[in-house]
Amino acid sequence: MTKANNKLRPRASTGASASRYGAKSSAGKSASAHSSAGRGAGARARRTFARRSEIDPFIVMDVMRRAGEREAAGEKVIHMEVGQPSTPAPRAAREAAKRAIDEALLGYTDALGIRPLREAIAALYVGRYGLEISPERIVVTTGSSLGFVLAFLAYFDPGARIGLPAPGYPCYRHIVRLLGLEAVTLETSAASRWMPDGAMIARAHAEAPLDGVLIASPANPTGTMFTPEALADVVRTTEALGIRFLSDEIYHGLTYDQEAATALALSDDAIVINSFSKYYSMTGWRVGWLVVPEGDERTFERLQQNLAISVPTVSQYAALGALSDEARDELEAHRATYRANRDYLLAALPEVGFERLVPADGAFYLYADVSAMGEDSAALSERLLEEAGVAVTPGLDFDAHRGARYVRFSYARSHEDMREAIARLAAWRKGRRHTP
Ligand SMILES: Cc1ncc(COP(=O)(O)O)c(C=O)c1O
Repeated sequence: MTKANNKLRPRASTGASASRYGAKSSAGKSASAHSSAGRGAGARARRTFARRSEIDPFIVMDVMRRAGEREAAGEKVIHMEVGQPSTPAPRAAREAAKRAIDEALLGYTDALGIRPLREAIAALYVGRYGLEISPERIVVTTGSSLGFVLAFLAYFDPGARIGLPAPGYPCYRHIVRLLGLEAVTLETSAASRWMPDGAMIARAHAEAPLDGVLIASPANPTGTMFTPEALADVVRTTEALGIRFLSDEIYHGLTYDQEAATALALSDDAIVINSFSKYYSMTGWRVGWLVVPEGDERTFERLQQNLAISVPTVSQYAALGALSDEARDELEAHRATYRANRDYLLAALPEVGFERLVPADGAFYLYADVSAMGEDSAALSERLLEEAGVAVTPGLDFDAHRGARYVRFSYARSHEDMREAIARLAAWRKGRRHTP
């Protein structure tokens, strides 16, 4: 059934950035609650929040919840909002978890992680990059998310200034602010394939000194990445300026034309953040890792002991299974699907109106400039979900200033889903709803 419905036609902007995905909503509320805190009434004070809790939502999670509500009401939604594979952990990981449940005590582990996992992660660097890394330098973390927290706590005192690319992964700036650090925006552009360079970092540092820089390559939300030369330029610049370089390598393994270079090959002082969430298809298991400079691990051990004690034990065993040779074919098959999705979407999205895209090298995202479509990206995202049943993420999550002009498409799902999404978007453009 294909029903004409004028209400579904794309319409002009309503100026609706204060939508359900509005970045400031929760912060605004708690700010006013906070202002009454100093007035003293005990019961009232208990209902207020600390200033540090005034952080923006991770909008993609809000979109995911709303998409889930529509699914619970019986609708089929194509998920292109969240950066999460639709595949489970590789079989070898699930088998390892089952064995651990049956056979292991599953108590706390060493704060830095179980030894075999740290050794297997170190071996990954030999296999993937030809680099010998001591297992002592590996810190197993609760997803890379807690890896950021540990690294920021280890290296930066309150007030430290951290350069972060915009657009970029939103939780960087949220965590930075939560910890009393200052986020310094390194504004990139489509012309430079959305990646910062050494000159940009040096300029920001000259304006007001930076203490560190955190960059992901391949990047979220753009899927673009450093060439080895561009990475070397950034590493050399940060070393020359005497500031820390944190390299988020969570999308390594998910590249389609050339392998990503690791900062560890260029510097012994770089701090590398990685995770089992993306390439290993294990978001919910919550395991990541850091590679820290030699001798720094004791500081991380003390931090982890106090903050988390250790990372969920069953997940550590599962992660070990994911690093086995057995898991490889399955994971490489996922990569082949993403590559096919990327190639398909780069051709098909422009045909349904999303013409302004920068081709992506890796991860599983495309970042589209939708400014010519007549409404801001928050309103557009809401309408795409409601009217086409396609969930996408408004750019405001990634770039507080320019994000109203962009949406991010995630292509981490099956190829059939991608074709269905394009069919839905094509029908939506014509004011109809696609029914397969
Ligand atoms: C660039 C980047 N870094 C880190 C993360 C956090 O991932 P996790 O905590 O699952 O390892 C994400 C999640 O989407 C991401 O895109």
